[in-house]
Amino acid sequence: MATSAGRSVRRVVVCQGFFCAARGSGRLLVDLRARLDGDAGVQVEVQYCFNGCSHGPNVVFHPDRVWYEGVRSEESALIAAHAQTGQPGPRAYGGRVAAVVKDNAHEYLDDKYGAAAAAE
Ligand code: FES
Repeated sequence: MATSAGRSVRRVVVCQGFFCAARGSGRLLVDLRARLDGDAGVQVEVQYCFNGCSHGPNVVFHPDRVWYEGVRSEESALIAAHAQTGQPGPRAYGGRVAAVVKDNAHEYLDDKYGAAAAAE
């Protein structure tokens, strides 16, 4: 999907499954929505579990295929800046979630939203 200006939409998908929610993903979702509201190029979406539960809260960018794990609500500014600019900040994404789990989640999001070219 593209904006009216033709720019691709980047989705920031925040897990609200049980384990991520227990670690504060609800607050993270609220913070990200507040920071990104009004940016036509970014949509904040909800997913109820990506199967990376042990290392959440998990946030996945689509179509970029970027995965942040163990995200704290205090890091919402970094995540929002990455979503708006396409440029990752200084935070490491984390590497504890198994690659096969990430691949499955990315494929699921591609099926759900369409496997468009990465947002600009
Ligand atoms: S609860 Fe978030 S990945 Fe499972």
